[in-house]
Amino acid sequence: MAELIAVKKDITTMQVDAIVNAANKRMLGGGGVDGAIHRAAGPGLLEECKQVGECEPGEAKLTKGYDLPAKWIIHAVGPIYGKENGREAEMLAGCYVSSLLLAVENGVKTIAFPNISTGVYGYPIEKAASIAVRTVKEFLAEEQHEIEKVYFVSFDDKALQIYQELLKSK
Ligand code: APR
Repeated sequence: MAELIAVKKDITTMQVDAIVNAANKRMLGGGGVDGAIHRAAGPGLLEECKQVGECEPGEAKLTKGYDLPAKWIIHAVGPIYGKENGREAEMLAGCYVSSLLLAVENGVKTIAFPNISTGVYGYPIEKAASIAVRTVKEFLAEEQHEIEKVYFVSFDDKALQIYQELLKSK
C-alpha cells in the first residue's frame, strides 16, 4: 500500500517524480502555487504549456518539470468554490483522479499535491482536504499502480494539522 504523508513545504522543492500544480484553465501561469512553480521551473514550462493548451476544470495535463527537482508537473485545474453549480466536490475529486491517472500512465512512484482550490479559488480547506484524502485513498485501493508515496503539501500550519488529523484516521 502506498504511503500518504502530510508535509508543510514549498512544493517546488519537493524531490518527487511529479508535483501537481493548482493551475487555471488557460494554463499560462498565475499567482499562488502556479506562480511559484512557473518561477522555479523556468521559461521552458510556459512554452510547453502553450503547446499543451487549455485544461478543463476538474481535469489535468502533464508537462516536464524543467528546472524543478521533479521530473514531471501535472497541472490540475480546480473548481472555483461556489461558482460551479454545486459540482465543486465532484470536480475537486476529479482533479485528484485525473492527476493520479496521468501519474500512473507515466510510471510515477512519488507524487506531491498542493491544496488545490483552497487559495484564490476559495475552497474551504477542511472540505477540500477531506475530499483529497478520500479520493486518493479510493484510487490507490482500486486502481493498478506503482505509486509508493503521495505527499499532501500544505503551505500553512492550519492546513498541515487538518491533513495530519485526516491521515491518522483509517
Ligand atoms: N508550495 C505549496 N503550496 C503553496 C505554494 C507553494 N509554493 N504557494 C501557495 N501554496 C498553497 C496556498 O497556500 C493554497 O493553500 O497552494 C494552495 C492553493 O492556492 P492557489 O495557489 O491560490 O491555487 P487555487 O486556489 O487552486 O487557485 C488557482 O490561482 O494562482 C492562480 O493561476 C492560478 O488561476 C489559478 C488560481
